[in-house]
Amino acid sequence: MLDLIIKNGNLVTKDITKKCDIGIIDGKITQIGENLREDAKEVIDASGEYVIPGVIDPHVHIHHPFKGKYSADDFYTATRAAAFGGTTTFLDFAIQWDKELSLKESLEKRISQSEGEAIIDFGFHVCPTKSEPEIIGELGHIIDMGAPSFKMYMTYSKQGRMSDDGMLLYGLDAVGKKGGILGVHAENDSISLFREKLSIESGNLEATDFPIAKDNIVEAEAVNRVSYINKYVNGNLYIFHLSTKEGLDILAREKGTGNRITAETCIHYLCLDDSYYGKENGHRYICSPPLRSKEDQDALWDGINKGLITTISTDHCGFPTELKDSGNGKYNATPNGLPSIGMLLPLVYTHGVCRGRISINKMVELISTNAAKTFGMYSQKGDIQVGYDADIVIFNPDREIEMKADMMPTDVDWSPYEGMVLKAFPTYTISRGQVIMEKGNVIGDRGRGKYLKRKII
Ligand code: URP
Ligand code: ZN
Repeated sequence: MLDLIIKNGNLVTKDITKKCDIGIIDGKITQIGENLREDAKEVIDASGEYVIPGVIDPHVHIHHPFKGKYSADDFYTATRAAAFGGTTTFLDFAIQWDKELSLKESLEKRISQSEGEAIIDFGFHVCPTKSEPEIIGELGHIIDMGAPSFKMYMTYSKQGRMSDDGMLLYGLDAVGKKGGILGVHAENDSISLFREKLSIESGNLEATDFPIAKDNIVEAEAVNRVSYINKYVNGNLYIFHLSTKEGLDILAREKGTGNRITAETCIHYLCLDDSYYGKENGHRYICSPPLRSKEDQDALWDGINKGLITTISTDHCGFPTELKDSGNGKYNATPNGLPSIGMLLPLVYTHGVCRGRISINKMVELISTNAAKTFGMYSQKGDIQVGYDADIVIFNPDREIEMKADMMPTDVDWSPYEGMVLKAFPTYTISRGQVIMEKGNVIGDRGRGKYLKRKII
């Protein structure tokens, strides 16, 4: 007897699109086939709908600090929105905000904040904030603990978050040798700081000045430098939120040279552009890197199709309008980040698949399979295969919804995508065989999400 059977759906994985049924027992996929005849406790008829692996968002910031306050979500409210939009796994960050804590303690603290809260499964990239040899010694132990991915900031020295080049060199070396992956927030710190001084002197601190202050060289120089360092030590490098055509040119140059680099872009670089800074409340779109030109956006879609970018994330960071407006619109006093957890599937489907930019199979690869492979979850998640977790999303390709911030079950009171007409908001989100969202109602229990121990293979 099956616990759940999903019948008559169009199964889409990175390789196939095929009408079939899926049987589930104890949270795992046990059968995939045409016209399965098994009895089941629960039946979902997915006729006319697509059935895809649960979305994996490899880059979110939940309850993120800014000047002593926090973004407007906690692990419960953020993951309700994730489930609403079909995301069944997320990776957030264990940032060493308290420099007195070891990396292990920082990770344990973040795990304890999220356990008992999240509705979906999750893990953390560990993020050192000190450029000290003692930290390098810790990286291998963290990988052994089941957290094989890291992030280092190449900017934000003023906030005490930056890793210097020595730290990048030794970090990439150590993590690469131990079978982990080290990601970077690639922005040149000194150019950013110099430009900020110029903006302050000239009084050019409006939202429209922000993409000029952090123009493409800020990212490209950092991508170039860290790529060189990575090649030198044979590291395993991940570029978070790549946003520029120049950054892509560097990746194209490195491809095929043996330099192990994987890159992500974010949904906002694919669906929004720098003209948003000139709109009413344009400062609310401040995020780092900034939204870019249409030319960069076209280059990113091209980079996806050339296999230079293999994952798409949200970089969700949901500051409410009150905090977004707290700097009176000045770019250097506005908290960075856009609220968008749960939006990967509707946005990539509408802007990518429906506009003919990518196939639906490529979409599955970009928003699920590749993140599972890159971050050590592929034996369990990111695909629909017998033995895998039954993390499954069902959506009707014809249904359209006009995006409204209050539709998302979070505490964030605005959306950068307000008013966009989007397809692929799911009918069902299933996590380890349990329906956690049905027809717009999130019904997954608070705290059912599990912390995932990961291993990159
Ligand atoms: O603008 C962005 N990406 N904000 C995310 C949070 C951070 O400070 O990295
Ligand atoms: Zn981020």
